[in-house]
Amino acid sequence: MKDELEQICAQALDDLSRVEDEAALEEFQIQYLGRKGRITSCMKSVGKLPPEQRPEMGALANRIKGTLASECEQCRLRLAEAGFRERVRRDRVDVTLPGHRYPRGHIHPLTRTAREMISIFEGMGFVLETGPEVETEWYNFDALNIPSDHPARDMQDTLYLDRGFLLRTHTSPVQIRTMERGKPPLRMICAGRTFRADSVDASHSPMFHQLEGLMVDTDISFAHLKAVLSEFVRRFFGPDTKLRFRPSFFPFTEPSADGDISCIVCGGRGCSLCSRKGWLEILGAGMVDPHVFRAVGYDPDLWRGFAFGLGIDRCAMLRYGIDDIRLFYENDLRFLDQF
Ligand code: DAH
Repeated sequence: MKDELEQICAQALDDLSRVEDEAALEEFQIQYLGRKGRITSCMKSVGKLPPEQRPEMGALANRIKGTLASECEQCRLRLAEAGFRERVRRDRVDVTLPGHRYPRGHIHPLTRTAREMISIFEGMGFVLETGPEVETEWYNFDALNIPSDHPARDMQDTLYLDRGFLLRTHTSPVQIRTMERGKPPLRMICAGRTFRADSVDASHSPMFHQLEGLMVDTDISFAHLKAVLSEFVRRFFGPDTKLRFRPSFFPFTEPSADGDISCIVCGGRGCSLCSRKGWLEILGAGMVDPHVFRAVGYDPDLWRGFAFGLGIDRCAMLRYGIDDIRLFYENDLRFLDQF
């Protein structure tokens, strides 16, 4: 029996040295130490030995059982440690790898342009106002002294809605709304969307943007208008850019002018951008017509004012060298990402 026990012990230790995972260890324990295991059955048969042999064999079986139990515990620790190392190896993070990039949006070039223009005028004391994009004929035309037979009111040019509403064709109605809301003297600007029944091409879009300005006080002259717009042109397009006025006509100003800047590509010598003229038109302006003051209840003998309207899309195109207005509205990220 002694030999048998020692042989079982030697084999058990050999088996245990080959155990590689928890399942094999479990199996080992059942095979040797379990209720029907080999050590257990040896211990049972100790009772059948002659009485003088029992103590020695019993002690030996117990020792072997103890040895195997503690060897099992050692093995369990060895496996746990190996498992931990393996998890660390598998889960290792390479901190030198590039991180995940989250695409960040940014401001649309037109919004950026409008904000920059607004802040230049705000710096000169103009207050930013807003008005609706859906307007009435009164605010868009009549109050601005645009007669009912004026071609701008034609369906070909204006987008009409139901019940006498229309999409504003310019930001000038905000002049009227601001004058009605407040009292002179005042200095306001407004920037926003405007709409016309134009077909789309490189320089036309049925939706575009304007920046409107209005200053009303007792002693306002054309010189004030020229000073404010010249300052704007220098700040927005650069200190060497010149501004010139050409006589023009608008029903809501008298006298009226169109404003050109010296060509930002050729500086005035003449190139393809300015059609060899050396100048680029960017605005309309003039002294507020007395009819407009009367429409809002201001006394035209007391108050003087100037007004102007700038094309925001046009300013952005010139500023960034964009030759097609459609690029602003197509949401092509290859274009937008450049700003
Ligand atoms: N509303 C004009 C247009 O859309 C632009 C304009 C011209 C605005 C003269 C003004 C102005 O305030 O005084 O063409």
